[in-house]
Amino acid sequence: MLIAPSLLAQTPVQSFEFGGYHFYLKRDDLLHPQFSGNKARKFRYFLEQELPDIQLLVGYGSAQANSLYSMATLAALKGWHLQFYVDHLPQWLQQSPVGNYQAALALGADIIAVGGKEKYGITVEQYLRESILPTLSAALYVPEGGRCQAAEYGVRQLAQEIHEWAINQKIAGLKLFLPSGTGTTALYLSKYFYENKIDIEVLTCAVVGGDNYLRQQFAMLCNDELCYPRIISSPKKYHFGKLYPEFYQIWQQLAKAGVTFELLYDPLAWLLLLNYKQQYPQQTIMYIHQGGLLGNESMLPRYRRKFNET
Ligand SMILES: Cc1ncc(COP(=O)(O)O)c(C=O)c1O
Repeated sequence: MLIAPSLLAQTPVQSFEFGGYHFYLKRDDLLHPQFSGNKARKFRYFLEQELPDIQLLVGYGSAQANSLYSMATLAALKGWHLQFYVDHLPQWLQQSPVGNYQAALALGADIIAVGGKEKYGITVEQYLRESILPTLSAALYVPEGGRCQAAEYGVRQLAQEIHEWAINQKIAGLKLFLPSGTGTTALYLSKYFYENKIDIEVLTCAVVGGDNYLRQQFAMLCNDELCYPRIISSPKKYHFGKLYPEFYQIWQQLAKAGVTFELLYDPLAWLLLLNYKQQYPQQTIMYIHQGGLLGNESMLPRYRRKFNET
């Protein structure tokens, strides 16, 4: 499996009619079949650098995370081995692997359950930092969800693509909308536009944790609050990874309108975006489709079971 970095550039922008409004969609999900969405942007630096001393990639997160598959892909592309630490591995997933977990296993990833919080009273991250990382050599450690300074390199290229597109289309005052987990993608996009005095504003929403948590995540990457994206708050509190009827409904409506999104991040963002567009119908909005569709292989059956669909 080999990807020339030049293939990881210039994703298309399409027009998308939804809920009676017009949006532009940046199809970053189409970046490359094996390496797409925001992880491809965030990990691009590692893909392009030689890094001859590295043999092992180390990460952590959920056993069903998009980042697990993306890190497994990165490791395979670079000829590295991946050790991915998780708090626990659900038994059903071990018995019938699906989605990101299955794809990462197929790429040779080592997925290691440490039973962090319950067993040691500490998080997997602490366990890794204290007990594992000091024992490793020739290893590259990437924090959960790719939240690291190196991510700026690839996200900056995404920002440049969008800026060029807006110039070609003669669009002033473009608003970009994308959901946040770690906030890394939204932050580095916003930072680029701010530093280069470009009239594009980044709007985002907190899908993991609340608005304050997201602000703390921004602060881990950048001290200057002027660089931060604008957070659009949700009137209702949602728990990450839980199933909500309104999420499934909007996901189905989006699919009917012609585009398949993923089921963890995109539904909340679209609910908030529709609400925002109702308030500001004149604004030109581009939504970034950040990929992650493999995760639907485990999310969709859960939704279908919950709503008694076959
Ligand atoms: C599909 C999708 N959207 C959004 C995000 C959130 O990205 P970030 O962690 O950069 O905020 C993720 C996670 O990386 C994702 O997989």
